[in-house]
Amino acid sequence: MKKTIRDFDLQGKRLIIRVDFNVPMKDGKIIDDTRIEKALPTILYAKEHGAKILLMSHLGRIKTKEDLEKNTLYPVAKRLEELIKTPVLFVSETRGSVLEHAVSSLNDGDICLMENTRFEDLDGKKESQNDEELGKYWASFGDLFINDAFGTAHRSHASNVGIARHLPSGIGFLMEEELKYLDENLKQPEKPYVVLLGGAKVSDKIGLLSNLLPKVDFCLIGGAMAYTFLKAEGLPIGKSLFEEEKLTFCKELLEKYKEKIILPTDHLVQRKEEIVSCFLTDTKEEDIGYDIGKRTVKVFQMYLKDAKTIVWNGPMGMYEDPKFASGTKEIGEILSENPHTKIVCGGDCVAAVTMFDLEKKMTHISTGGGAALELLEGKELPGVAAIDEKTY
Ligand code: 3PG
Repeated sequence: MKKTIRDFDLQGKRLIIRVDFNVPMKDGKIIDDTRIEKALPTILYAKEHGAKILLMSHLGRIKTKEDLEKNTLYPVAKRLEELIKTPVLFVSETRGSVLEHAVSSLNDGDICLMENTRFEDLDGKKESQNDEELGKYWASFGDLFINDAFGTAHRSHASNVGIARHLPSGIGFLMEEELKYLDENLKQPEKPYVVLLGGAKVSDKIGLLSNLLPKVDFCLIGGAMAYTFLKAEGLPIGKSLFEEEKLTFCKELLEKYKEKIILPTDHLVQRKEEIVSCFLTDTKEEDIGYDIGKRTVKVFQMYLKDAKTIVWNGPMGMYEDPKFASGTKEIGEILSENPHTKIVCGGDCVAAVTMFDLEKKMTHISTGGGAALELLEGKELPGVAAIDEKTY
């Protein structure tokens, strides 16, 4: 059993809390704040128990200097302030004297949010590749470390695994709740067990599939990731997003698990200025697919209505645009009518379900996408493994 935040005397301690504030953003605005809300119990507990709190999170992926501005955590600090109804000091640095001074000036109960940890990725991927010095440097800001970033637990970053190496550590309430729920419900899932995958992080999820497919009864694939499979099947996909280097892999999976993998048969495409609904076989060269079609929804429904356990990760289309939202919305409605276990996981999928006001109809809304899927595969999450065990 892992230590939790309850196992520490927090009064007057410098406490680093790793949260996952990697929220969906559009034009600098937060589309969905579920991840911030779900982190509040841990932050409030730490505040009430007199800790000097330093919050760390990543946001997006940083590859070039141009990525910096659109991935600042500043809007998140403002939203957190509104939700928690207390000032949050935002420091727009990830290292250096300004940050060091801000942290050392915190009083008991104060909350500080540091700039996006992945800003350190510009300099040799230091955060994402868990640079030893960086983890040690950040750890020097704390007496204790709490990891509450379930959504990031499948990553081995300096801000989760790295810091944990240097400080007494535990998990927060969100992490505790997620691990407990997913473990109880997915160790031996009630069958039929259906996994519904979509979204745009194609290569991330394609890798998980070979471990996941033996465990599930059916895997329904929609959204952007379906196109790599459809192309591998030899279907025309026009100019839709796909991953060339994953085609052989998808082909092999399709051959091995042809009874289990269910793909779209029709889709909604942008055809020049028009939006057209068509069968996959009728896709034209200039078409770009942005949503699953009505027939696909009906086919997916056949599998979803009788399922006893459903895990949904990744929207079925570009749900943020009302023109391409109906596939994701209808699938959400089908899930909400199923009386059994329905777990929705991943930032975008949770945002979609919340946008369509269906979140209360799901059994569990998980803040983790990739993390939840890796748990489903039976993998150990490095962000959890790095945390201290309870000693009795
Ligand atoms: C997520 O949204 O899945 C987590 O925050 C991890 O983000 P990443 O996929 O960019 O590592």
